[in-house]
Amino acid sequence: AAAGDVSAGKQKSAACAACHAADGNSPSPDFPKLAGQNAGYIAKQLSDFKSGARENAIMAPIAQGLSEQDMLDLAAYFASQEVAAGAVAEDLIEAGRQLYRGGNAQSGVPACMACHGPNGKGIPSAKWPMLSSQYSKYTETQLHQFAKGNRANDPNSMMRDIAGRLSEAEIKAVSAYVSGL
Ligand code: HEM
Ligand code: HEM
Repeated sequence: AAAGDVSAGKQKSAACAACHAADGNSPSPDFPKLAGQNAGYIAKQLSDFKSGARENAIMAPIAQGLSEQDMLDLAAYFASQEVAAGAVAEDLIEAGRQLYRGGNAQSGVPACMACHGPNGKGIPSAKWPMLSSQYSKYTETQLHQFAKGNRANDPNSMMRDIAGRLSEAEIKAVSAYVSGL
């Protein structure tokens, strides 16, 4: 596969800045932070928004205008940015930490850490996303989307099964925990 070019990506990122900020640290929890996210994961999501495999009314028309090279360049640019620390919800992080690191044997939930890494950085080579420092609102929304089967752009991913086994309290706790990671 062709490589992305950071400076070309920076030029092209003006179209993203209104929602994701020029440096990828989105100003609002309604929009995910892209800074420091794994490049291969970003490029795949853009491609899936374009094909419609990942459904989102806002991102779909934006991705329509991107070539494969644009996606690689934008992914390289945002991946090269440093993510700003997320909020820490002290009352939730202990429960979140337990689920993230140990899973829930009773409900059959594996440790999130197994795929998203002990520090929440994901596995770049596998296109598995970083979760650390992300807005908890966005993480909660994605877990709900997986649980409902609305996010199914990666048919091989275990996320729908995993999210479907999480209680609402677990979703809140783990989303708070990874925000502080
Ligand atoms: C999600 C990239 C422009 C709003 C995403 C994601 C990526 C991305 C990679 C998925 C993040 C993840 O899975 O962690 C870009 C790029 C843009 C751009 C490269 C410019 C070319 C915009 C603009 C808006 C926007 C202008 C607002 C008008 C959103 C929203 C989501 C999102 C709401 C969450 C979608 C969901 O819940 O599934 N974007 N974006 N983006 N973006 Fe953008
Ligand atoms: C994606 C959370 C366990 C593999 C995601 C996303 C979230 C998440 C929020 C979307 C990230 C984004 O949009 O930026 C969790 C939590 C887990 C967990 C809270 C534990 C309860 C796992 C495990 C695996 C895994 C155990 C591997 C077996 C993946 C993969 C993706 C993903 C491959 C990207 C592909 C897709 O969209 O389905 N996860 N995860 N996760 N996760 Fe997990």
